[in-house]
Amino acid sequence: MGKIKIGVFGAHRGMTMIHQLIGNPYAELVAVCDKYKPVLDQCAKLADEVGIKIELYEKFDDFFNCDMEAVVMANYAHEHAKFAIGLLESGRHIMSEVLTCANLAEAVLLVETVEKSGKVYSYAENYCYFNTTYEMRQLYRRGDIGELMHAEGEYIHDCSSIWPQITYGERDHWRNRGYSTFYCTHSLGPVLFATGLRPVRVVGVETRNMPFMRKLGANAAVCGMEIVILENQAMVKSIHGGLKREPGSINYQLYGSKGSMETDRWDGGQLHVYREGERNCQGEHVKYKPEFTIKDAAGAGHGGSDFFTTHYFIKNILGDENAKANCIDVYQAIDMCIPGILAYKSIVNGNTPQDIPNLRNKDERDAYRHDTFCTFRESAGDMWVSNNINMEDDIADEVYAMVAEKWHNNEPG
Ligand SMILES: NC(=O)c1ccc[n+]([C@@H]2O[C@H](COP(=O)([O-])OP(=O)(O)OC[C@H]3O[C@@H](n4cnc5c(N)ncnc54)[C@H](O)[C@@H]3O)[C@@H](O)[C@H]2O)c1
Repeated sequence: MGKIKIGVFGAHRGMTMIHQLIGNPYAELVAVCDKYKPVLDQCAKLADEVGIKIELYEKFDDFFNCDMEAVVMANYAHEHAKFAIGLLESGRHIMSEVLTCANLAEAVLLVETVEKSGKVYSYAENYCYFNTTYEMRQLYRRGDIGELMHAEGEYIHDCSSIWPQITYGERDHWRNRGYSTFYCTHSLGPVLFATGLRPVRVVGVETRNMPFMRKLGANAAVCGMEIVILENQAMVKSIHGGLKREPGSINYQLYGSKGSMETDRWDGGQLHVYREGERNCQGEHVKYKPEFTIKDAAGAGHGGSDFFTTHYFIKNILGDENAKANCIDVYQAIDMCIPGILAYKSIVNGNTPQDIPNLRNKDERDAYRHDTFCTFRESAGDMWVSNNINMEDDIADEVYAMVAEKWHNNEPG
């Protein structure tokens, strides 16, 4: 069997996967698509340097028609399902960057398309594969802390200084149009991946939109939080956004019936584990730096985690059962994403609780098949809502022009 032919859609974040695919023993990078010509030029240069041929496309339709078996989706975060559906129907395997879908209607369609296609769909929620979060999964599955009662996931990343470089001064960029609870996957995902539990209900809360982000063109609240109830009645606090904290905080805690585990708030890569013994409130506490399960991960982006998503995706396509078990399938991907959509529905409706459907069940799908509630106009139709519940005035065009200029001049926000 030859190498799997893979294309990458979106070459900004996608550049990470492009580098991983070059020289991969099982896969071959055959094509890259991006409408922004300078990143395609970078790819052409890279291909020259390493002596390979990559087809380069500015238009998705041309990319779609090229000869490839699998696609890495690293395009806009709210447009993954939209493009993945057509690719799956054409027989391609998909690895999707975060997030999975823009609304519940897309979630239903995505699940049904994956089922019909029989192709691999793998969600690249890389934060599940840190040395710490992956260790939490192994210890939890082994029963070290008993049954989960409470968990916390935190992804605090103040992007104000890089806002020009990640939104390019575009009013319609998804980072400007998204809402506070949209990007919930890095905080909630690792909790679900570690425990295997499913979310069943959510309440959303958020801060205000603040001047330091508004003057950069961001209309939504700075930080959002999902209070999630899991199928066993465990509670989860999932918080993410641009609070003022340097360095940013990526932090997870699991409390079980026999102990707890938590990442170190300031000493990244370290894990604390408390295991209760025979008697209540007595046990052992250890702090250590877990090893990566695959040594090649050391040095990869995002604390080594970027290695695993692409590695397991490729091995899963090749039929490796261990890789399949370590990939995030479409159902769990949706479990990691739709609590954010429903949390925003909760916020818009006065923080009321919202049930989270289990889209594995066919009979739960019809109620959401036409639910296009979201803040992205082209996906929402008549269910569009603003990403600012206070409905402040539109941000002036001059703001976006100023941010675009900063981007062109490579100045911080
Ligand atoms: N997992 C992580 O740690 C991580 C980190 C950064 C970004 N991301 C994800 O990666 C994705 C991309 O984010 P980004 O930071 O690269 O910024 P981005 O969303 O601004 O970049 C997307 C890229 O795709 C291209 N693109 C989008 N639609 C296209 C189309 N229809 N035709 C041709 N090209 C198109 C754009 O030109 C751009 O270069 C997002 O889903 C984001 O959530 C994940």
